[in-house]
Amino acid sequence: MTKIAYLTIDGTVYELPMFEGSEGERAIDITQLRSLSGCITYDPGFANTGSCRSAITFVDGEKGILRYRGYPIEQIAAQGSFIETAMLLIFGHLPSKEERSCFRELLGGQELLHEGLRHHFEGFPSKGDPMAILSAVINSLGCYHPELVDIENEEEFTMAAAKIISKVRTIAAWAYRKSKGLPFMYPNPALSYCRNFLHMMFSIPNRFHEPSQEAVRALTLFFILHADHEQNCSCSTVRMVGSTQASLFASVSAGICALWGRLHGGANAGVIRMLHRIRDGQMSIPTVIEKVKNREMRLMGFGHRIYKNYDPRAKILKQAAHELLEKMGRHDELLDIALNLAAAAMADDYFAERKLYPNVDFYSGLILRALNIPVNMFPVMFAIGRMPGWIAHWYEDHQNPTLRIHRPRQIYIGEPKRDYIPMEERGIIDG
Ligand code: CMC
Repeated sequence: MTKIAYLTIDGTVYELPMFEGSEGERAIDITQLRSLSGCITYDPGFANTGSCRSAITFVDGEKGILRYRGYPIEQIAAQGSFIETAMLLIFGHLPSKEERSCFRELLGGQELLHEGLRHHFEGFPSKGDPMAILSAVINSLGCYHPELVDIENEEEFTMAAAKIISKVRTIAAWAYRKSKGLPFMYPNPALSYCRNFLHMMFSIPNRFHEPSQEAVRALTLFFILHADHEQNCSCSTVRMVGSTQASLFASVSAGICALWGRLHGGANAGVIRMLHRIRDGQMSIPTVIEKVKNREMRLMGFGHRIYKNYDPRAKILKQAAHELLEKMGRHDELLDIALNLAAAAMADDYFAERKLYPNVDFYSGLILRALNIPVNMFPVMFAIGRMPGWIAHWYEDHQNPTLRIHRPRQIYIGEPKRDYIPMEERGIIDG
């Protein structure tokens, strides 16, 4: 039986239907609210707004739960590969052996960039931010594959998804090579997804980069943990752009731009820069805590719109950072600083009262550092990992026959109607 929520405005009672998700989350359906009452809702930051029904990822922020298509993130992280995680998110089920090898083969055939696209890199300045390059080149893929701009069936979608997932690591690695003035390394189809990326990042013409098993596993884990996180800012951007029937290329390119900011995918770089400042004596841990409480700065890698508990991804990454460094026989003083900083924050009432815990970005940079990934590439690494999630969300909308263009409303607070003042009356005399 449909439950009803009652809303009274100026003495009139409006009945609003309610519905429940498969994990018991309740929603009030306000799709008819404006036509019935003339009122809209006001929810800056959309903290109380469900923008869609989605079957891809479930997060319970109070309990610290994250599941992809129903599977707990801890289980996927311990046993899964990045490619099968991508397939799970995009196609909805864990792939069979055959499905997995077909998709792998498809990815292997798509890793090269059109030579014309390679020349785009020559136009970017060497100091260009790799996120700008990534977004621009991913968008440009639409020019080189116009047959996939208007996707009409699953086969075309699968091809577009494979192109993006495969080429994004080539583009990312080349953005880095450009910044270093190093020759571009072409992908090697004999290598796995992560090995191939590390090869394009770090091999040089006469010296093949062979990463250790633990480095490959750590990178795989990093990508798996970043693969999706339901309706965050970049995912919602992808869905918003996609709602206009823009191409998959254009939509995920917009997602990269949304991810770029310091409060979202740029936070991983922000954490490391903050730890550097502590290491270099520019700030002590108590000074950081004090500045945060005085609202002079935010504690990067802490807090989350949804999690009011420990982010399960941060838990896994903290452990993984320890293990990776131990296996590599390395010590990173930034890890010690991060642990002390997290402990100091969590012992402080300011953080406890606001339920601020480490999020995915707090420890992830320590793993990337151990892999020799430079800090300005950290958001790019996030974007490579998040690509399957964006693609899955875009496709979920694309398949929805009742999808409407995303178009929020506003409460106008500007000037009421007034008459235009002619230029002469404002002293402007133009020829
Ligand atoms: N440091 C200090 N105070 C904070 C922080 C923080 N990192 N995060 C939230 N707060 C405080 C905030 O000042 C506010 O306090 P008050 O109620 O007294 O004004 C309260 O906690 C609620 O914060 P909010 O800004 O309303 O929360 P939000 O849900 O709008 O923002 C957030 C979420 C992630 C943007 C925020 O926690 C933040 O800025 N964190 C630091 C940046 C970061 O680590 N971002 C990565 C997020 S996780 C991965 C991803 O999505 O990319």
